[in-house]
Amino acid sequence: MTNKVIVGLQLGDESKSRVVDYLAKSNTYIVRFNGSSNAGHTTWVDGKKFVFHLLPSGILHKHTINVIATGVLLDPIALADEINEMRGAGITITPETLKISARCSVVTELHRAMDAWEEDKRGTNKIGTTKRGVGPAAVEKAARQNMRIIDVVRGDTTKFIDKKTFIEQATKYNFSALYPDFIEKIEKAAQELKPFLCDTSLFIYNAVQKGNVIFEGAQATLLDIDHGAAFPFITSSNCLSSYAATSSGIGAHYLNEVIGVMKPYITYIGSKNRPFPTIMDDRDDNRITELGAEFGATTGRKRNCGWLDLVQLRYAARLNGLTSIAISKLDVLSGFGDVKVCTNYTIDGHLFNEMPMDPKDLFKAIPNYKVLPGWKGDISSIRRFAELPNELKQFIEFIEEGVNVRIKYISVGKDREQMIERVS
Ligand code: IMO
Ligand code: MG
Repeated sequence: MTNKVIVGLQLGDESKSRVVDYLAKSNTYIVRFNGSSNAGHTTWVDGKKFVFHLLPSGILHKHTINVIATGVLLDPIALADEINEMRGAGITITPETLKISARCSVVTELHRAMDAWEEDKRGTNKIGTTKRGVGPAAVEKAARQNMRIIDVVRGDTTKFIDKKTFIEQATKYNFSALYPDFIEKIEKAAQELKPFLCDTSLFIYNAVQKGNVIFEGAQATLLDIDHGAAFPFITSSNCLSSYAATSSGIGAHYLNEVIGVMKPYITYIGSKNRPFPTIMDDRDDNRITELGAEFGATTGRKRNCGWLDLVQLRYAARLNGLTSIAISKLDVLSGFGDVKVCTNYTIDGHLFNEMPMDPKDLFKAIPNYKVLPGWKGDISSIRRFAELPNELKQFIEFIEEGVNVRIKYISVGKDREQMIERVS
């Protein structure tokens, strides 16, 4: 058995949680290791839709133990609500099936107000954040002024934000809550989470010895705070596979396999100002948006669609040290006459096979496309690679050659069992 990391290879919403849910059937521990409630992870089981923001996507299986690791920015109110919502949907969540790091840094409603205020202040230079408070909470964490969930549980909240500071900040950031209500609400949520708190680093250390851990990443490579190529149109946390070790507090050598998840096209939610070399025309964009239900699971915003970009994908494969790829949403492209894949960029007359160092160059990037024949028909009941339409097999092999990584998991539909797993 091997411990596996699941990461997004593009700009988020690649169906990471669908892959985590699939792999969870033969693994015990699922560790969510980054991001915050900005994530929106959709999983379908028996035709029923579940959306997670902070909970690990293994929670739908009865046999799994799910962990929220230290590197996750934790909004206690959002998580307590999510747990209650899942329980309402019949999912069992107990201190045996969910563990939360006592060291998680906390995101508050004030951070959400700051996030919204900062976006507003940016005017036409908006990043297009989810307004979940992630950026401001990450700033506080880096400045070592953050409270951790253990502080809130112990009732030490007021040490971190006293009434005077709260009033100053609430006034500045247009946050209308009263101080006692703000503190009470967050402490109440923290008390609900208290039974789940533990030393997750020790817990995960013991789990990885058995080799049946899945580390679940949120967001994606091109949104990574350090390596996201189109700075500042990125998120505030690390999204690469290596962060699974840092966030969990274990040695990097326990991460045996890295599976990157991709769609056969790309989507991006955020600012219209972000450079997007392979953006589609409105006709194709509308078609994909409709067939792929490309709307944000957290904010409901429409995702902008683009053709598959191998420059981006090669960059992501290298940064994450991929051992294999899982591809989702192939059914969305079924019936497209031709399918375009960007193989490299031309920038100022020069050919770029790799991501340019300067984000400004991305604005000038002209994509060079290979046009491949599209495939037709319903593929959802196919369970063997050999039985897929020839054009689809060619498409998959073209990506494998372009990235030099094996596509091992092929999702042919959104339900749990609609997956082809290639053995060799
Ligand atoms: P999952 O895990 C897609 C995007 C936001 C915005 C930028 C910064 O579902 O794939 P933030 O609120 O993080 O400060 O916003 O990052 N973003 C995502 N886009 N999927 C996500 O997560 C995202 N999480 C953040 O839309 O452009
Ligand atoms: Mg999502």
